[in-house]
Amino acid sequence: MAIISIIGHKGGVGKTTLSINIAAALTQALNQKQSNNQVCLFDLDLRLPTITGILNSHPKKTFFDLFETLANQTYQIDLLQTLYSILIRFKRHVNGDTTFDDRPQLQKSIAVYKNMNIELFNFSQYEFGNQLHELFLNRGVIHRPSDIKKKAFNDLLNRIDIDRVKKVMRDNEENARPEINEYISYIEEYGFSILGGEVPILGKKSHRNRINEPEFLALFLEFIHGVCEKFDHVVLDTPAGGVNHVSSLMNTIDQVLFVFDISNNIAVKGSIDALHTFIDYYEDFYKNYTQGLLTGLDKSYVDKLITERGEKAVTQALANKKMSIIFNRCKKTKEISPCLDQLREYLETLDQYEEYKDRIRLVGLMPDHKIINITNNRGTVFYGKDKTLSNRINTIARSILNEDVVYPTLAYSNSEIQTYLEKQSHMGFSNTLNRIASGLS
Ligand SMILES: Nc1ncnc2c1ncn2[C@@H]1O[C@H](COP(=O)(O)OP(=O)(O)O)[C@@H](O)[C@H]1O
Ligand SMILES: [Mg+2]
Repeated sequence: MAIISIIGHKGGVGKTTLSINIAAALTQALNQKQSNNQVCLFDLDLRLPTITGILNSHPKKTFFDLFETLANQTYQIDLLQTLYSILIRFKRHVNGDTTFDDRPQLQKSIAVYKNMNIELFNFSQYEFGNQLHELFLNRGVIHRPSDIKKKAFNDLLNRIDIDRVKKVMRDNEENARPEINEYISYIEEYGFSILGGEVPILGKKSHRNRINEPEFLALFLEFIHGVCEKFDHVVLDTPAGGVNHVSSLMNTIDQVLFVFDISNNIAVKGSIDALHTFIDYYEDFYKNYTQGLLTGLDKSYVDKLITERGEKAVTQALANKKMSIIFNRCKKTKEISPCLDQLREYLETLDQYEEYKDRIRLVGLMPDHKIINITNNRGTVFYGKDKTLSNRINTIARSILNEDVVYPTLAYSNSEIQTYLEKQSHMGFSNTLNRIASGLS
């Protein structure tokens, strides 16, 4: 499985356009239109999802449904489950049927109870909601096991119908997790699957608040992770500026492709800044990982990856994360030269050039092209229709599929980089990619 993220510093730089065409190129290269589990294109733009509209393919459920389900079912039921196990321990303690060995567990339950984040919990949704609410209002008076036995708290515990809690929990358990397949739409014509949004999820205030809650974010990540597991290649169209929400994912994925909009100088500066910011986050994350200092969501996410793939694989993936640049909206090839100089200079100033000069690869050069500039219709999907543009996308796809192809890095000279990227568009529109993908080349 490879997860590739297409990142840009703001809207309109070409992330979505490139994501769609890269997904198409990967699909063709893998030559497996029969199987539905090869390539999935993910619209992670929670503000302005566009892919389902552009490709006119609509999954049964969108990210909006996902957020509703996670918020109103998954999150609520998970919380009830945690709460239920705490209540059981408290009750046992009050009734005196605990042994000395149970003590650490009881202490742990008290700690969980005191620290549970209940901000997103819908107390009013449940008949026992008021009592539960009261339970949490009492957190300040419970410090040690003996406090649980105090009369007022004991009375409150007795008023909570724990069997009801259990029943509601059990009754809702089954539908609490989103059914992944309902969110994926396989597009026959293109041979890849998509998932994502239709309406801006972050347009809804409660969802805007939720996305910043670690507990909620963890559920969102769990879902994304589940989808990724189903496919060989996942292309993420990553929201501008919204990367923070999925930073654990971004830091652990295989490859990041930065879209450099070089149509104007402000865009260039923004692109460089986005790359540098990403590197900073990644370095922090990696350092914390190697020193065992990851916390919270980052830690739980990485722990999960380690359980699944083994520590060695995770460490390797983190250490070797590939970072690549695609220049977009290029009018003349030589325009990339000042952009490269600016990037090197910027990294140099931050003492990051030496570390990254061989690591940042230049994998694509997309022209500013009138075909691409046909907005909001299927002109966006030019792959397979325009030979030159397709070849350029193939070059990018090859950087994802084939470990062995050598790409210029920042350490190369500008003219070497230009020559390389320019040459690619003239390469035959043949089956080179297919051969590469199937290991014949
Ligand atoms: N190389 C290009 N040449 C011409 N137009 C482009 C190019 N890349 C993107 N566009 C156009 O710019 C607009 C924004 O592109 P889009 O892929 O939606 O950006 P983003 O996803 O980063 O917001 C679209 O109308 C698209 O057709
Ligand atoms: Mg977009």
